[in-house]
Amino acid sequence: MKPHSVAFLTFCFLAAPQTVFAQNVTAAPDTAELLARARTATGELLQRTREVLLRHLAARGPAGAVMACADTAQQLNALVEQSHSLSIRRISDKWRNPADAPDSYESEILAKMNNLLREGSLPETTEIYGLVRSGKKVLFRYMKPIVVQGVCLSCHGDPGSISREVAGILSARYPDDTATGYSAGQLRGAVSVTIQP
Ligand code: HEC
Repeated sequence: MKPHSVAFLTFCFLAAPQTVFAQNVTAAPDTAELLARARTATGELLQRTREVLLRHLAARGPAGAVMACADTAQQLNALVEQSHSLSIRRISDKWRNPADAPDSYESEILAKMNNLLREGSLPETTEIYGLVRSGKKVLFRYMKPIVVQGVCLSCHGDPGSISREVAGILSARYPDDTATGYSAGQLRGAVSVTIQP
């Protein structure tokens, strides 16, 4: 299926409308090349996090898998960042790890994704990307939604349905956890990539 891509080339970091390119930027960065890099890195991060989750769920159940996710998620971000020379993380407006809290651009795109989901037009292949001014820099930013599935609920579902063991690990490790109360089909967050062209 053709990726459902939404490019906001004039999307700005701040609410005030302004053109994306600084005046001293003469050549537009090669967006196609940046998009290809962001896509590859995103695919790799999603595949690796999913592999860790499913392998540990099968071997040790949710209580074992929650420890594995806690211990590896940030390391996987770093691994993919190093191999693709870009910045990547999973973000959420209801984050578990405070390192995954969104910045203002990411919050705006998450709100946009939530609107698309409500309208029934947020397929898994959706990508939102564009060149965004950040201070004096122009950055390439790319986001791909992460939607909740049934398998996620043992750690992100209704608090009443999360086992006591998993809840104990979560509250010890993430005292400020806000990533519960989801049901399948809701927007959990997004992969967010930033590249300095
Ligand atoms: C076994 C428990 C468990 C299951 C099942 C699980 N997660 Fe998580 N999830 C975690 C933990 C623990 C973290 C925090 C990782 C960290 O410290 O970076 C997390 C973090 C995340 C984040 C990063 C944002 C944040 O809140 O910090 C996303 C996105 C996410 N999970 C999506 C999912 C999705 C989608 C599924 C289902 C396919 C899923 N998770 C299933 C335990 C789980």
